[in-house]
Amino acid sequence: MTSVKEGDYNALREEIKKVLKQPGYDDGSAGPVFVRLAWHASGNFSLVEHNGGSNGAGMRFPPESVDPANAGLHHAISFLIPIQAANPWISHADLWTLAGTTAIQAMGGPQIPWEAGRSDYDSAEAAEEHRGVVGDRLPDGALGASHVREVFTRMGFSDREIVALSGAHALGRCHRDRSGFDGPWVVNPTRFSNQYFKLLLRPIWRPREWDGPFQYEATVAGTKLMMLPTDMALVEDPQFKPWVEKYAADQDLFFKDFSMAFGKLIELGVDRDDTGFAKLVKKSAEEGKPLDQTQKPGGGSCPFAGTGAKGRSAGGAGGCPFLAMNREAKL
Ligand code: HEM
Repeated sequence: MTSVKEGDYNALREEIKKVLKQPGYDDGSAGPVFVRLAWHASGNFSLVEHNGGSNGAGMRFPPESVDPANAGLHHAISFLIPIQAANPWISHADLWTLAGTTAIQAMGGPQIPWEAGRSDYDSAEAAEEHRGVVGDRLPDGALGASHVREVFTRMGFSDREIVALSGAHALGRCHRDRSGFDGPWVVNPTRFSNQYFKLLLRPIWRPREWDGPFQYEATVAGTKLMMLPTDMALVEDPQFKPWVEKYAADQDLFFKDFSMAFGKLIELGVDRDDTGFAKLVKKSAEEGKPLDQTQKPGGGSCPFAGTGAKGRSAGGAGGCPFLAMNREAKL
């Protein structure tokens, strides 16, 4: 693996792209499991308790490293170890989130806003002391719409954002030895697209008869596909379903919304100082400044404002993308 110049994130993206191709692993790509790593590293954030999130890379230590919800993510971490070893200046927390965003784009998806500055816990004790208890916060695929809404509302996501994020199930597959569920959601699971939404709307899904957990199945173009109960909840719930329909009909809208929502996800709990550095300091819910994307239209500021991170953003131009999205969603 090549050592790149400290702070050269574009060069690091190229290094990540080099390890995406993994013949012999799943569908030949580490991309989907990188996306899941970035999501699980971030998705234990709580707006109320203001703890959890990607800062610190807590999944390197118990209890997160042995949480059954994170089963299989050691593959993603292992694929990234050579890059980290050659470039020790980047934190694991930054590398994991950068790998997720790089993979999405490399698989044909949108560019995602990404900022450097996360730090790493240096021990299990430090992680425990700083984070407190963040287990049991990731969604359970066996449950329904109210569970999905509850889990994502805890992170600060709207119905629109929840549905957009769920579109990541166009990538990868379920593994019997990880979650117990089995199979891919779409025919080409290494291509980011709105196929997941198109398939969800088709009347093809039947309960699978097998000895595993309850899931749905259908055969499309000769390939056995699956849906989790939480996936089907998106078409069963009257508030979620219109967004499934919109994203199935308009891939550009899906890409735009997904980019904003995933960018928000990997920022949760990352409180940068004026230099753009996100120290690992314990904050109470009152002290912590939950990101402002959940604010009503008209108010609020860009979560990247005042971070000193201007110019380092991979996100691109013009105004705050998160606030713009929420304005459009008429929250
Ligand atoms: C209700 C919410 C969600 C539930 C219940 C859920 C559940 C699951 C389950 C059970 C798996 C299979 C794990 C395995 O057996 O290896 C999986 C895989 C995956 N999930 Fe989700 N997920 C949710 C939301 C998300 C979100 C928000 C993202 C990203 C934005 C995401 C991205 C992925 C990806 C890319 C995979 C494939 C991983 C691989 O191929 O190794 N999921 N999810």
